[in-house]
Amino acid sequence: MDDSPFLKLCRARRSVRRFADRPVEREKIELCLEAARRAPSADNMQPWRFIVFDDPEKKAKLAKAVFTGIYASSKLFAKAPVIVCLVIKEHLLVNKLAGAVQGTQWQLVDAGIGGEHFVLAAAEQGLGTCWIGWYDGRALLKHLGLRGKGYKAVALIAVGYPAADVSTNERPRKNLDEIRFWNDPPHR
Ligand SMILES: Cc1cc2nc3c(=O)[nH]c(=O)nc-3n(C[C@H](O)[C@H](O)[C@H](O)COP(=O)(O)O)c2cc1C
Repeated sequence: MDDSPFLKLCRARRSVRRFADRPVEREKIELCLEAARRAPSADNMQPWRFIVFDDPEKKAKLAKAVFTGIYASSKLFAKAPVIVCLVIKEHLLVNKLAGAVQGTQWQLVDAGIGGEHFVLAAAEQGLGTCWIGWYDGRALLKHLGLRGKGYKAVALIAVGYPAADVSTNERPRKNLDEIRFWNDPPHR
């Protein structure tokens, strides 16, 4: 299949878990956030909120709060120069009502789309990222002072320039024949 510039970017992106000791320019993060802002969302609710930590002290406190206990294996991400907290502002109608009737939590889908816009914009600028699902979401909301205020924690995103010796090997992907079904659903 021919590579388009976008497909090239998708191919080149990796989850990065070790970072160079180099600060990330805020303009680059702002560009990622602008890309996220442009993402589609259910009923255009734009439920995503991005809380960006690049202050070393504040970031360390955040990491201490969310990478503890059973989440301690994620402590390596404390070394990322930037940690983005992705939360959603829950909307009663879209999230609770439509979700309950139709069965999909659309605001989580929205957050995933917005977050991946951020991640791909980061990759385009030479930044490494890693989605982090293994963290204490309740502790995150408490730490941010958002508990009981209608927010839901979705994920963290570590951001930074990749360490020089970081592996560029691609993790295996299913081939197209396993995931694409023209006109007929999978039979098993
Ligand atoms: C929603 C989500 C949560 C993830 N959580 C973690 C995590 O907690 N720790 C981690 O090391 N990687 C995490 N990852 C990264 C995946 O392991 C990674 O995307 C996958 O193995 C494919 O590798 P690649 O991103 O380098 O292509 C997460 C990815 C996604 C999309």
